[in-house]
Amino acid sequence: THCILIGAPVDSGQQRPGCLMGPAAYRVARIAEVLKALGHTVEDRGDVAPGPLGQESCANPAVHSLPETLGWTRALADASARAMADGLPIFLGGDHSLSLGSIHGVAAHAAAAGRPLFVLWLDAHSDIHTLASTESGNLHGTPLAYLAGRPGFAPFPPFPAPVPEANICLFGIRSVDPAEHAALEETEITVNDMRVLDEQGFAAPMRDFLNRVQAAGGMLHVSLDVDFLDPSVAPAVGTTVPGGATFREAHLVCELIHESGLMCSLDLVELNPFLDDRGRTARMMVDLVGSLMGRKVFDRPTRAG
Ligand code: ARG
Ligand code: MN
Ligand code: MN
Ligand code: MN
Repeated sequence: THCILIGAPVDSGQQRPGCLMGPAAYRVARIAEVLKALGHTVEDRGDVAPGPLGQESCANPAVHSLPETLGWTRALADASARAMADGLPIFLGGDHSLSLGSIHGVAAHAAAAGRPLFVLWLDAHSDIHTLASTESGNLHGTPLAYLAGRPGFAPFPPFPAPVPEANICLFGIRSVDPAEHAALEETEITVNDMRVLDEQGFAAPMRDFLNRVQAAGGMLHVSLDVDFLDPSVAPAVGTTVPGGATFREAHLVCELIHESGLMCSLDLVELNPFLDDRGRTARMMVDLVGSLMGRKVFDRPTRAG
Protein backbone atom coordinates (compact mmCIF):
# COMPACT_ATOMS: atom_id res chain seq x y z
CA THR A 1 0.00 0.00 0.00
CA HIS A 2 1.14 3.54 -0.72
CA CYS A 3 0.69 5.38 2.60
CA ILE A 4 0.44 9.17 2.51
CA LEU A 5 1.16 10.94 5.80
CA ILE A 6 -0.63 14.25 6.20
CA GLY A 7 0.20 16.35 9.25
CA ALA A 8 -2.87 18.15 10.60
CA PRO A 9 -1.71 20.23 13.58
CA VAL A 10 -5.25 21.36 14.40
CA ASP A 11 -5.79 22.83 17.86
CA SER A 12 -8.86 25.01 17.34
CA GLY A 13 -11.52 22.35 18.03
CA GLN A 14 -10.97 22.35 21.78
CA GLN A 15 -9.37 24.55 24.43
CA ARG A 16 -6.37 22.74 25.83
CA PRO A 17 -3.21 23.65 23.93
CA GLY A 18 -0.92 20.86 22.75
CA CYS A 19 -2.62 18.88 19.96
CA LEU A 20 -0.68 20.95 17.44
CA MET A 21 2.40 18.96 18.47
CA GLY A 22 0.73 15.69 17.47
CA PRO A 23 2.14 15.33 13.94
CA ALA A 24 5.69 15.89 15.22
CA ALA A 25 5.20 13.28 17.94
CA TYR A 26 4.04 10.65 15.44
CA ARG A 27 7.10 11.32 13.31
CA VAL A 28 9.39 11.09 16.36
CA ALA A 29 7.66 7.80 17.23
CA ARG A 30 8.79 6.61 13.78
CA ILE A 31 5.47 6.10 12.07
CA ALA A 32 7.06 6.16 8.60
CA GLU A 33 9.66 3.57 9.55
CA VAL A 34 7.03 1.25 11.07
CA LEU A 35 5.02 1.39 7.84
CA LYS A 36 8.08 0.80 5.66
CA ALA A 37 9.11 -2.20 7.76
CA LEU A 38 5.72 -3.72 6.94
CA GLY A 39 6.50 -3.43 3.23
CA HIS A 40 4.52 -0.29 2.47
CA THR A 41 5.74 2.75 0.58
CA VAL A 42 5.46 6.00 2.52
CA GLU A 43 5.15 9.56 1.30
CA ASP A 44 5.16 12.26 3.98
CA ARG A 45 3.45 15.35 2.57
CA GLY A 46 4.36 17.42 5.65
CA ASP A 47 1.93 19.52 7.64
CA VAL A 48 -1.07 21.12 5.99
CA ALA A 49 -1.29 24.91 6.43
CA PRO A 50 -4.71 26.22 7.44
CA GLY A 51 -6.63 28.25 4.88
CA PRO A 52 -6.99 32.03 5.23
CA LEU A 53 -8.98 33.26 8.23
CA GLY A 54 -12.45 34.58 7.50
CA GLN A 55 -14.92 36.44 9.72
CA GLU A 56 -17.56 33.72 9.97
CA SER A 57 -19.77 33.41 13.03
CA CYS A 58 -22.81 31.39 14.07
CA ALA A 59 -25.82 31.85 16.34
CA ASN A 60 -24.51 29.77 19.26
CA PRO A 61 -22.32 32.04 21.43
CA ALA A 62 -20.54 29.06 22.97
CA VAL A 63 -18.85 28.17 19.67
CA HIS A 64 -15.26 29.38 19.58
CA SER A 65 -12.53 29.50 16.91
CA LEU A 66 -15.02 29.06 14.08
CA PRO A 67 -12.95 30.86 11.41
CA GLU A 68 -9.86 28.84 12.38
CA THR A 69 -11.71 25.53 12.20
CA LEU A 70 -13.30 26.52 8.87
CA GLY A 71 -9.85 27.36 7.51
CA TRP A 72 -8.58 23.93 8.54
CA THR A 73 -11.65 22.21 7.13
CA ARG A 74 -11.19 23.74 3.67
CA ALA A 75 -7.46 23.06 3.57
CA LEU A 76 -7.75 19.49 4.84
CA ALA A 77 -10.68 18.62 2.56
CA ASP A 78 -8.54 19.63 -0.37
CA ALA A 79 -5.43 17.75 0.83
CA SER A 80 -7.60 14.71 1.56
CA ALA A 81 -9.28 14.54 -1.83
CA ARG A 82 -5.89 14.84 -3.56
CA ALA A 83 -4.32 12.13 -1.40
CA MET A 84 -7.22 9.73 -1.99
CA ALA A 85 -6.36 9.74 -5.68
CA ASP A 86 -2.80 8.60 -4.92
CA GLY A 87 -2.92 6.19 -1.98
CA LEU A 88 -4.10 5.67 1.58
CA PRO A 89 -4.02 8.93 3.54
CA ILE A 90 -3.14 8.83 7.24
CA PHE A 91 -4.00 12.10 8.98
CA LEU A 92 -1.69 12.89 11.88
CA GLY A 93 -3.72 15.07 14.26
CA GLY A 94 -4.50 17.37 15.70
CA ASP A 95 -7.82 17.41 17.54
CA HIS A 96 -10.89 15.62 16.20
CA SER A 97 -12.20 18.70 14.38
CA LEU A 98 -9.68 17.77 11.66
CA SER A 99 -12.15 15.06 10.60
CA LEU A 100 -14.52 17.78 9.39
CA GLY A 101 -11.99 18.21 6.59
CA SER A 102 -10.41 14.78 6.17
CA ILE A 103 -13.71 12.96 5.71
CA HIS A 104 -15.01 15.79 3.52
CA GLY A 105 -12.28 14.95 1.01
CA VAL A 106 -12.73 11.21 1.41
CA ALA A 107 -16.49 11.50 0.78
CA ALA A 108 -15.94 13.61 -2.32
CA HIS A 109 -13.56 10.96 -3.65
CA ALA A 110 -15.91 8.06 -2.84
CA ALA A 111 -18.84 9.83 -4.51
CA ALA A 112 -16.78 10.46 -7.66
CA ALA A 113 -15.73 6.79 -7.68
CA GLY A 114 -19.35 5.73 -7.24
CA ARG A 115 -18.58 3.67 -4.14
CA PRO A 116 -20.49 3.73 -0.85
CA LEU A 117 -18.54 5.18 2.07
CA PHE A 118 -18.61 3.63 5.55
CA VAL A 119 -17.20 5.30 8.67
CA LEU A 120 -15.90 3.59 11.81
CA TRP A 121 -15.63 5.92 14.82
CA LEU A 122 -13.28 4.51 17.49
CA ASP A 123 -13.85 6.96 20.35
CA ALA A 124 -15.07 7.42 23.93
CA HIS A 125 -17.33 10.18 22.59
CA SER A 126 -20.05 10.25 19.96
CA ASP A 127 -18.98 13.67 18.51
CA ILE A 128 -22.45 14.20 17.01
CA HIS A 129 -23.12 17.76 18.15
CA THR A 130 -24.15 20.43 15.65
CA LEU A 131 -23.06 24.05 15.83
CA ALA A 132 -26.41 24.69 17.52
CA SER A 133 -26.33 21.87 20.09
CA THR A 134 -22.75 22.04 21.39
CA GLU A 135 -22.59 23.41 24.92
CA SER A 136 -18.83 23.36 25.25
CA GLY A 137 -18.44 25.15 21.91
CA ASN A 138 -15.60 22.74 21.11
CA LEU A 139 -15.98 21.76 17.48
CA HIS A 140 -14.04 18.51 17.96
CA GLY A 141 -17.41 17.28 19.27
CA THR A 142 -19.15 17.80 15.89
CA PRO A 143 -17.59 15.91 12.95
CA LEU A 144 -19.91 12.90 13.04
CA ALA A 145 -22.99 15.12 12.67
CA TYR A 146 -21.33 16.94 9.76
CA LEU A 147 -20.47 13.78 7.83
CA ALA A 148 -23.93 12.35 8.47
CA GLY A 149 -25.36 15.44 6.76
CA ARG A 150 -27.27 16.71 9.80
CA PRO A 151 -28.55 20.29 9.45
CA GLY A 152 -27.11 23.19 11.43
CA PHE A 153 -23.62 23.50 9.92
CA ALA A 154 -23.75 26.84 8.15
CA PRO A 155 -21.26 28.49 7.53
CA PHE A 156 -19.41 25.21 6.84
CA PRO A 157 -19.34 24.12 3.20
CA PRO A 158 -22.13 21.61 2.56
CA PHE A 159 -20.89 18.04 3.07
CA PRO A 160 -20.30 16.62 -0.43
CA ALA A 161 -22.07 13.29 -0.08
CA PRO A 162 -23.46 12.68 3.39
CA VAL A 163 -22.68 9.23 4.76
CA PRO A 164 -25.89 7.23 5.22
CA GLU A 165 -26.61 6.57 8.89
CA ALA A 166 -26.67 2.82 8.25
CA ASN A 167 -23.02 3.09 7.12
CA ILE A 168 -21.76 4.63 10.38
CA CYS A 169 -20.55 2.63 13.37
CA LEU A 170 -19.57 4.09 16.74
CA PHE A 171 -17.30 1.82 18.74
CA GLY A 172 -16.08 2.15 22.33
CA ILE A 173 -18.50 4.95 23.24
CA ARG A 174 -18.87 5.83 26.93
CA SER A 175 -19.47 9.59 27.10
CA VAL A 176 -22.56 10.99 25.38
CA ASP A 177 -24.11 14.43 26.08
CA PRO A 178 -27.93 14.71 26.38
CA ALA A 179 -28.36 16.41 22.98
CA GLU A 180 -26.19 13.72 21.37
CA HIS A 181 -28.22 11.00 23.04
CA ALA A 182 -31.41 12.45 21.61
CA ALA A 183 -29.85 12.73 18.15
CA LEU A 184 -28.55 9.15 18.21
CA GLU A 185 -31.88 7.73 19.34
CA GLU A 186 -33.54 8.85 16.15
CA THR A 187 -30.87 7.49 13.80
CA GLU A 188 -29.88 4.14 12.33
CA ILE A 189 -26.26 4.69 13.38
CA THR A 190 -24.81 1.57 14.96
CA VAL A 191 -23.78 2.41 18.52
CA ASN A 192 -21.44 -0.16 20.00
CA ASP A 193 -21.02 1.49 23.37
CA MET A 194 -18.92 -0.08 26.11
CA ARG A 195 -21.98 -1.89 27.47
CA VAL A 196 -22.34 -3.76 24.16
CA LEU A 197 -18.60 -4.51 24.00
CA ASP A 198 -18.53 -5.72 27.62
CA GLU A 199 -21.29 -8.19 26.85
CA GLN A 200 -20.35 -9.30 23.34
CA GLY A 201 -16.62 -8.70 23.27
CA PHE A 202 -14.86 -6.54 20.68
CA ALA A 203 -14.52 -9.08 17.87
CA ALA A 204 -18.12 -10.05 17.06
CA PRO A 205 -19.54 -6.50 16.71
CA MET A 206 -16.48 -5.47 14.70
CA ARG A 207 -16.83 -8.44 12.34
CA ASP A 208 -20.55 -7.68 11.90
CA PHE A 209 -19.77 -4.16 10.76
CA LEU A 210 -16.85 -5.16 8.52
CA ASN A 211 -19.03 -7.81 6.89
CA ARG A 212 -21.60 -5.16 6.06
CA VAL A 213 -18.95 -2.92 4.48
CA GLN A 214 -17.66 -5.87 2.47
CA ALA A 215 -21.12 -6.93 1.29
CA ALA A 216 -21.82 -3.41 0.04
CA GLY A 217 -18.50 -3.13 -1.81
CA GLY A 218 -17.80 -0.11 0.37
CA MET A 219 -14.80 2.02 1.21
CA LEU A 220 -13.99 2.31 4.90
CA HIS A 221 -12.76 5.43 6.68
CA VAL A 222 -11.46 4.82 10.21
CA SER A 223 -11.31 7.67 12.72
CA LEU A 224 -9.22 6.69 15.75
CA ASP A 225 -9.47 9.00 18.77
CA VAL A 226 -6.78 8.47 21.43
CA ASP A 227 -9.51 8.39 24.08
CA PHE A 228 -10.94 5.19 22.55
CA LEU A 229 -8.11 3.68 24.60
CA ASP A 230 -8.12 3.37 28.35
CA PRO A 231 -6.24 6.28 29.98
CA SER A 232 -3.92 3.76 31.65
CA VAL A 233 -2.42 2.89 28.25
CA ALA A 234 -2.97 6.27 26.55
CA PRO A 235 -2.79 9.20 28.98
CA ALA A 236 -1.90 11.92 26.44
CA VAL A 237 -5.37 13.22 25.62
CA GLY A 238 -7.36 16.18 26.92
CA THR A 239 -10.61 14.26 27.31
CA THR A 240 -9.73 11.06 29.17
CA VAL A 241 -12.68 8.81 30.08
CA PRO A 242 -12.13 5.76 32.28
CA GLY A 243 -13.09 2.31 31.04
CA GLY A 244 -11.67 2.38 27.52
CA ALA A 245 -10.19 -0.29 25.28
CA THR A 246 -7.21 -2.15 26.68
CA PHE A 247 -3.95 -2.68 24.81
CA ARG A 248 -5.11 -6.09 23.63
CA GLU A 249 -8.67 -5.12 22.73
CA ALA A 250 -7.37 -2.22 20.65
CA HIS A 251 -4.84 -4.36 18.81
CA LEU A 252 -7.47 -7.02 18.14
CA VAL A 253 -9.77 -4.42 16.58
CA CYS A 254 -6.93 -3.10 14.43
CA GLU A 255 -5.96 -6.61 13.28
CA LEU A 256 -9.55 -7.38 12.30
CA ILE A 257 -9.71 -4.16 10.30
CA HIS A 258 -6.46 -5.07 8.55
CA GLU A 259 -7.64 -8.59 7.73
CA SER A 260 -10.79 -7.15 6.14
CA GLY A 261 -8.68 -5.25 3.61
CA LEU A 262 -11.34 -2.52 3.57
CA MET A 263 -9.68 0.54 5.12
CA CYS A 264 -9.02 3.33 2.59
CA SER A 265 -8.22 6.27 4.91
CA LEU A 266 -7.35 6.86 8.57
CA ASP A 267 -7.49 9.71 11.09
CA LEU A 268 -5.29 9.66 14.20
CA VAL A 269 -6.76 12.31 16.48
CA GLU A 270 -6.58 14.01 19.88
CA LEU A 271 -2.99 13.10 20.78
CA ASN A 272 -1.71 15.86 23.06
CA PRO A 273 2.03 15.20 23.44
CA PHE A 274 2.30 17.83 26.20
CA LEU A 275 0.30 15.43 28.41
CA ASP A 276 2.31 12.35 27.52
CA ASP A 277 4.47 10.17 29.70
CA ARG A 278 7.82 9.72 27.91
CA GLY A 279 6.11 9.30 24.54
CA ARG A 280 4.16 6.20 25.46
CA THR A 281 0.84 7.35 23.99
CA ALA A 282 2.43 8.36 20.69
CA ARG A 283 4.18 4.99 20.58
CA MET A 284 0.95 3.16 21.42
CA MET A 285 -0.84 4.91 18.55
CA VAL A 286 2.00 4.10 16.14
CA ASP A 287 1.88 0.46 17.29
CA LEU A 288 -1.85 0.42 16.51
CA VAL A 289 -1.15 1.82 13.06
CA GLY A 290 1.24 -1.10 12.65
CA SER A 291 -1.58 -3.53 13.47
CA LEU A 292 -3.97 -1.67 11.17
CA MET A 293 -1.45 -2.02 8.37
CA GLY A 294 -0.56 -5.66 8.80
CA ARG A 295 1.58 -6.31 11.85
CA LYS A 296 0.51 -9.01 14.27
CA VAL A 297 1.14 -8.44 17.98
CA PHE A 298 1.97 -12.09 18.27
CA ASP A 299 3.32 -14.05 15.37
CA ARG A 300 0.52 -16.56 15.01
CA PRO A 301 -1.48 -17.76 12.04
CA THR A 302 -4.68 -15.78 11.63
CA ARG A 303 -8.06 -17.16 12.62
CA ALA A 304 -9.10 -17.82 9.03
CA GLY A 305 -5.85 -19.70 8.53
N1 ARG B 1 -19.19 15.93 24.01
C1 ARG B 1 -18.19 16.75 24.58
C2 ARG B 1 -18.22 18.14 23.96
O1 ARG B 1 -18.92 18.40 23.01
C3 ARG B 1 -16.82 16.12 24.43
C4 ARG B 1 -16.38 15.95 23.01
C5 ARG B 1 -15.05 15.26 22.97
N2 ARG B 1 -14.67 15.04 21.62
C6 ARG B 1 -13.47 14.62 21.25
N3 ARG B 1 -13.25 14.53 19.96
N4 ARG B 1 -12.55 14.31 22.13
O2 ARG B 1 -17.51 19.00 24.38
MN1 MN C 1 -13.48 12.27 19.19
MN1 MN D 1 -13.10 11.35 22.21
MN1 MN E 1 -9.74 17.09 23.13
